[in-house]
Order: sequence, then structure tokens, then C-alpha cells
Amino acid sequence: ILDKPNDVAEWAAKYVMKKIKDFNAGPEKYFTLGLPTGGTPLGMYKKLAEYCKNGKISFKYVKKYNMDDYVGLPPDHVQSYHYYMFHNFFKHIDIDPKNVHILDGNATDLEKECDDYEEKIKEAGGIRLFIGGIGPDGHIAFNEPGSSLVSRTRVKTLAHETLEANCRFFDNDITKVPTQALTVGVQTVLDADDVLILITGSSKALALHHCIEEGVNHMWTASAFQQHKHTIMICDEDATQEL
Ligand code: GLP
Repeated sequence: ILDKPNDVAEWAAKYVMKKIKDFNAGPEKYFTLGLPTGGTPLGMYKKLAEYCKNGKISFKYVKKYNMDDYVGLPPDHVQSYHYYMFHNFFKHIDIDPKNVHILDGNATDLEKECDDYEEKIKEAGGIRLFIGGIGPDGHIAFNEPGSSLVSRTRVKTLAHETLEANCRFFDNDITKVPTQALTVGVQTVLDADDVLILITGSSKALALHHCIEEGVNHMWTASAFQQHKHTIMICDEDATQEL
């Protein structure tokens, strides 16, 4: 538990940097990193971009796998997670585009797209570090309440609460929010060696309580990480109001 969102961002960025450095990534040995979107990780991305610019860290030998994206939004739509990732992170670091993997919500065969994504992760030897955030209903990626805790990458219909939470990004018009998304499953994230979940703000307080103080429950999918071998949930004070 840290004081403010900025402290969470800095802690997370330093943690990610250390993990990548300790791994000693190189052309023969890529680090595999799972990445989230949303408002919460923005500060972390900014700091990582800063460290990269100052030569403290390189992302050249890091393969990146995004958690999710909406179905049906063109990749250049400002609310697509493709756009988010390039705009907020990738264009500010030393990336090789071939190391960027984002689910394509416009693929003609969405199920195949999801299966191929799992395959790609497997081929890369699994994810070393998966970073995530949570929704106010405790969802991780787009694993909405009721999702199987052994789920894998798939098409998911979004819960009304998620549409409401995300309509701030769509002119506050809920009818503009896509109703489906492609998302990694809970198990896809659980398979990672390390998981780092960032949680800030009082709107996440109830979710945090359910995810760490109540039992493992598919209605609060991030509670599954109680059973993960190495998950760190890093929060600001506001997020801990219900603990
Ligand atoms: C969306 C994303 C999640 C993210 C959540 C919270 O639902 N699919 O991956 O964790 O939003 O976003 P924010 O950080 O903006 O609260």
C-alpha cells in the first residue's frame, strides 16, 4: 500500500525495470511481458518511457502481449487498445513492431484469433510478468463477473457495469461502447511466472476487499490471484478504504 497513484506508478515501473534487467534479455532470450490498458497504468507507462529515454532500460528484447481489445473498433480509433498502447507507450520506447502482440478485434474469425494468441504465448515460452488492473467489479482484463477462473483467451460479452465504467471514454454515451471484447482468460494470466496488479482510487475499494479478503470467487475474477504463486497487488490509500 502506497500513498498516491503516482507512488504506485513509480513503484510499478521500477519493479518492471528490475524484472527485465535481472532477466538479462538478449537476441537469444526475450523477456515476455503482459500489458494492460485503462487509466490506472498510464503513470507507469509514462515512467517506463522516461527510463527508456534516459537509457536506464531497453525494450528491444521484450515481447509484449496485450490483455484485451474491443471487438469492432478500428485499430486507429482513439479508444481502441491498439491506439492506446501505441499512443501511451510503444511510440515512446525502443520497440521492434514484430515484438508487439495485440488481439485483433476486427479479425474475420475471432475464435481463431483467440486460439492463435494462446499459441503465440505458448511458443514464446509463456509470460514472465503479466501486469494488470481491475475493474470496479473486480474483473481482470475483460474477465467479467461469472467468468471461469480457468478461462483462456476468448470473445467476451461485456457486463453492463463495464459498459457504464468505460462510457466516460465514449462521450459518456453507453450506446457507443462496444459490447464485446477479446480478452486473455483468467488462466492465461495465472500461467504467468509473476503478476503485478495495480489498483488505485476509491472506486476500486470494494473490489479490492472482495479480491483479497473474501474467498476465491468467479464473481470477482481477480480473487483468483490469491492462488497464484507470485502476485503483487499494489494499491494507493484510497483503494484500501474497504479493507
Ligand atoms: C477495462 C480493461 C481492464 C482494466 C479496467 C480498469 O475494463 N479491460 O484491463 O483493468 O478497464 O480500468 P481503469 O484503470 O481505467 O480503471
